[in-house]
Amino acid sequence: MAFQDVCKQSYIAEGELVPIKVGKQEIVIMWADGGEPKAYEARCPHEGVSLGQGDFNGRLLYCIAHGWVFDGRNGRSLQPAGWQMKEYPLRIHNGMVQVDLSP
Ligand code: FES
Repeated sequence: MAFQDVCKQSYIAEGELVPIKVGKQEIVIMWADGGEPKAYEARCPHEGVSLGQGDFNGRLLYCIAHGWVFDGRNGRSLQPAGWQMKEYPLRIHNGMVQVDLSP
């Protein structure tokens, strides 16, 4: 595990999606209502469009390209079913959000 700081804890909030650039990589911190903050690769598993530009309503994330829908609690696709956003380990440490992007 190689956790690195990606943003301040105060930068994220329940019900919100936050896109973050880490080096050349784009990730999203998605925190669904009633859930926990989670980190995902920003690339949509369909055709790779950035989900950082997606429309998140606190529960569902809609890709702006072709309208695939993802569950904000776990990154699983709901429409169509059977796909999964790539998740990275996330932790909060000393007021910072830390993510492990190692393969
Ligand atoms: S790239 Fe996201 S739905 Fe097609």
